[in-house]
Amino acid sequence: MERRTPQVFFVLSLLALVLILAAAWQANTPYWKVYQRDFHKLEAQGEPNSLTKAAVLASPPVIHQVLLTGLQRVDRCTTCHLGVEDPTMKNAPQPFRFHPGLGPHIPSKFGCTICHGGQGLATEKSDAHGNVMFWQTPLLAKDYIRASCGRCHKEGDVPGVPELTEGRHLFETQGCRGCHKLNGVGGSIGPDLTTEGASHRAPEWLERHFLTPNAVSAGSAMPNFHFTKEQARALTYYMLSLTSEDMGSYYSSVRLIPSAGHGRQLFIEKNCIACHNVGGVGAKTGPDLLGVTKRHSPGWLDEQLVNPSLVYPGSTMPVYDLETNARKALVNFMATATAEDAQAILSQRSKTLTPEDAAIEAGRQNFARFGCVGCHGLQLQGGVPNPNAQGGEVPSLLHASDDYTKDEVIAIIRNGKVPPTEDRSKPAPPLYMPSWRSVLTEEDINRVADYLWSLQKKKDSW
Ligand code: HEC
Ligand code: HEC
Ligand code: HEC
Ligand code: HEC
Ligand code: HEC
Ligand code: HEC
Repeated sequence: MERRTPQVFFVLSLLALVLILAAAWQANTPYWKVYQRDFHKLEAQGEPNSLTKAAVLASPPVIHQVLLTGLQRVDRCTTCHLGVEDPTMKNAPQPFRFHPGLGPHIPSKFGCTICHGGQGLATEKSDAHGNVMFWQTPLLAKDYIRASCGRCHKEGDVPGVPELTEGRHLFETQGCRGCHKLNGVGGSIGPDLTTEGASHRAPEWLERHFLTPNAVSAGSAMPNFHFTKEQARALTYYMLSLTSEDMGSYYSSVRLIPSAGHGRQLFIEKNCIACHNVGGVGAKTGPDLLGVTKRHSPGWLDEQLVNPSLVYPGSTMPVYDLETNARKALVNFMATATAEDAQAILSQRSKTLTPEDAAIEAGRQNFARFGCVGCHGLQLQGGVPNPNAQGGEVPSLLHASDDYTKDEVIAIIRNGKVPPTEDRSKPAPPLYMPSWRSVLTEEDINRVADYLWSLQKKKDSW
């Protein structure tokens, strides 16, 4: 035993030395250098000239980085993702593959993390991909990458990402604001969603939560909206886009993309169909717009929209104060507009309303926009579970006139109301009627009350 000790010691020191050398070798040869060597081999493969080939193979390893204009951000992803801008690399293995579809979002200006997440400064793969404890925004899974388009493109719709438009629409019509604040507007029963996209919530969690809130958040007071998978996906996209991160003037300079979809929206808003028709469908005061983009150049049409009377002296067409991208969007819409679409636009146009009907319609819109529908339902039917409240659910508003005068209802909306508890020994009901005094003006509240009154169902009298 005694005589063996020096031998053991010797072996151990040898082992330590080997480990130290290995560590030193690894520190000098980090993986990104290995990737760069492999990339140079790949580049050299197709190179006929042997001198150039040798030069390519001998290129020294360098860290590539992109400084994002005006943002405190450095992306080094292209240190390994070396072929993103090289179309000849379209079949190369990752991380060398060409990146299709970047359009104007060129890597040298936009970097990668702005769309993908991850940790820009890191040069080790798992650190860079953000799969480390302390990093809040790991790479978005492939199915969710396009959600980040909405972090910069906030208005209008983003071509190729209908989920964002749909998600925003659901948010504004399903009553989410009844319980959630977004940018300072909304209730406080659920968490503020202003920076939901920068929270630690995984996209998969959000999506499951939208399908069944209770399944991932036990005992959640958030109602099950019975969304379809597509709707849950759309809302998840919209949530992921809400980071409230200041993208700086350069990156948010083009917030509105001149898509045909946005042009259609403008065409409806500006009521162009009141004078124009498409393929004969619509009014005849102005010319048929079918094929107008074939008759005139984009430049001509742009001029015409800026200043109709310069193009057609004495024009009766109104002058619209449209910004460049809005005009582009309209032209893009006109290029794709069809008679069927004009029919659809015409049939959706609201009929001319009497002043009373208009007030009721405004009330209906407030009821949706300010989130009343989130608790009371789109049809005012109530029924959202509210454990330990009397009746166990949020009341229907269809019979409010049986229990209250209109003034009393106005007072409830103004001041809010906490439902009486069924069993005092149990926790208070999670949902209560919030006070809307600081959110809605008196006029808005009156309109909502008018709307409610217009739908009251009288008790059967017999
Ligand atoms: C050290 C080299 C390295 C760096 C740095 C690196 N990557 Fe990767 N990346 C890879 C490799 C290798 C793959 C291939 C798949 C794999 O091995 O995980 C990959 C795959 C990907 C994928 C495909 C999805 C996936 O997870 O397989 C995306 C997206 C990606 N990287 C984005 C980024 C972004 C964004 C950055 C910068 C924040 C970055 N990468 C930095 C090596 C790197
Ligand atoms: C404008 C946003 C945007 C930017 C900037 C961007 N990407 Fe992408 N990237 C995408 C989208 C969207 C996809 C998914 C395309 C699809 O669905 O096939 C994608 C796909 C990828 C993939 C394949 C993912 C997979 O799972 O197969 C890799 C790798 C990747 N990007 C790396 C990068 C790197 C590296 C950079 C920086 C040089 C970068 N991207 C910059 C939007 C972007
Ligand atoms: C970091 C902010 C940012 C993100 C994220 C972003 N974009 Fe953009 N996008 C811009 C800016 C800025 C421009 C204008 C670039 C230019 O013209 O130089 C632009 C331009 C565009 C255009 C072209 C508009 C035109 O004039 O034709 C389209 C389409 C577009 N983006 C779609 C997308 C899609 C799809 C995604 C997600 C995969 C995305 N963007 C992500 C900032 C962003
Ligand atoms: C009746 C009130 C109520 C309504 C209406 C409501 N929520 Fe919630 N929501 C909650 C409550 C309470 C929570 C917290 C418990 C939980 O995680 O489910 C929550 C949680 C969430 C979360 C998770 C936040 C996080 O990271 O923890 C998201 C995202 C969310 N709601 C989005 C929505 C959207 C979008 C709508 C509209 C379709 C909506 N909610 C409608 C009450 C509501
Ligand atoms: C967070 C959920 C929630 C939201 C959002 C909400 N309510 Fe309520 N509301 C309730 C609850 C719970 C009650 C029942 C109070 C009680 O039982 O005393 C109630 C009661 C009422 C009542 C009295 C009905 C009755 O039978 O007691 C009216 C009227 C009413 N709400 C209108 C509205 C209007 C209008 C809005 C939107 C501006 C709205 N509510 C938004 C939860 C909500
Ligand atoms: C008050 C009626 C009126 C409205 C509203 C109107 N226009 Fe016009 N527009 C005209 C008339 C009339 C002409 C024919 C030339 C002229 O007199 O200016 C015309 C011409 C045009 C032309 C040129 C067509 C051609 O073949 O030369 C285009 C394009 C056009 N309008 C687009 C629009 C768009 C887009 C809108 C909505 C933003 C709109 N117009 C709203 C009356 C109108």
